[in-house]
Amino acid sequence: MKVKAPRSGFSTRAIHDGQEPDPLTGAVSVPIYATSTYAQKELGKDIRYDYARGANPTRDRLEANLASLEGGTAARVFASGMAAINALCAMFKTGDHVVCGHNLYGGVPRLFDKVLSGYGFEFTYADTSDPANVERAIRKSTRMVYVETPTNPLMAITDISAVAKICKSKKIDLVVDNTFMSPFFQQPIALGADMVVHSTTKFLNGHSDGLGGVVVCTKNAQADQLAFVQKAAGAILSPFECWLVLRGTKTLAVRMLQHDSNGREVAEFLSAHKKVEKVFYPGLKDHPQHELAKRQMSGFGSMITFETGSHANAAKLLERVRVCTMGESLGGVETLISHPATMTHAALGEKGRAAIGITDGMVRISVGIEDVDDIIADLDQALA
Ligand SMILES: Cc1ncc(COP(=O)(O)O)c(C=O)c1O
Repeated sequence: MKVKAPRSGFSTRAIHDGQEPDPLTGAVSVPIYATSTYAQKELGKDIRYDYARGANPTRDRLEANLASLEGGTAARVFASGMAAINALCAMFKTGDHVVCGHNLYGGVPRLFDKVLSGYGFEFTYADTSDPANVERAIRKSTRMVYVETPTNPLMAITDISAVAKICKSKKIDLVVDNTFMSPFFQQPIALGADMVVHSTTKFLNGHSDGLGGVVVCTKNAQADQLAFVQKAAGAILSPFECWLVLRGTKTLAVRMLQHDSNGREVAEFLSAHKKVEKVFYPGLKDHPQHELAKRQMSGFGSMITFETGSHANAAKLLERVRVCTMGESLGGVETLISHPATMTHAALGEKGRAAIGITDGMVRISVGIEDVDDIIADLDQALA
């Protein structure tokens, strides 16, 4: 009998798990099964592939790949990161309660407060960078603790192990949005999380050419429920978009290493610049949770927020950049630069932003993998 070599390394799993050659043709790139339905041989037989909302082979491959990278047992992919987060709540009942970080991507509180609270779900926002705040916010009806770490855009860190311990003692699921770090730099499930969420739109895809979302599970019941939501609610990821993410994860490790290296250099440059008042980056020694970041993450990534002092200063900088592209989103190979107050976090409103410390002078940068000297020279001329 042929014994298969074990595949334990991250890059090996990224390139091979779920990405095995096609059994029909040997194609090394997973085929895009562009079909809405499947021919059935017998009437009344329970088959895996009957209609594409329920299952698609390209989707199955991506789900296997992402489950492997996050160390979960299964994954379910959705049409966007927001669709994945919505799916997490789709099985809740009126009166169910969620504790969530008070500084999340702005679309998440928009979904919670403006859509899901209309169904009678309740949400409490807490500063999860202190686990005691999570414990205090938990109620009898709490079904889920939802955290983003590092947070968007303030780069605050939540101690995943400490919050996981609290959740385990109360039998509540801890869900971590791992979009900013990717599984290459942070493994929330190994630290005790029950589920991991990503906007695959960002680093997992990595090329700014597709929207997507995933929930990675650790229990069969979660995976079964989410598969039911895929089939029942229908916000599944298309086979082509699945293929884009499968292609993206093949280079995730090398991209993340370059993102991280460029991110560190840009953060150092910004923190030494006289027109920059403050830099939020967990890799800097003055970040209040630098030690926790070093313990919990194996790199610091390329997401940086910095304070320019005013809306006018931020606008001037954003309009002057030439190598960096002004635009929403993050995690692509190209450097993207944005203004949280009017873009990603506009939905929070002025009061909501002020409450968590997002100012009009803040600029967020997703450092890409261009030559770092060119990125720095561009920021330097734009700040002049
Ligand atoms: C951290 C984080 N989570 C979730 C989302 C939502 O993902 P999507 O835009 O794919 O719906 C975003 C979007 O920017 C994000 O930054």
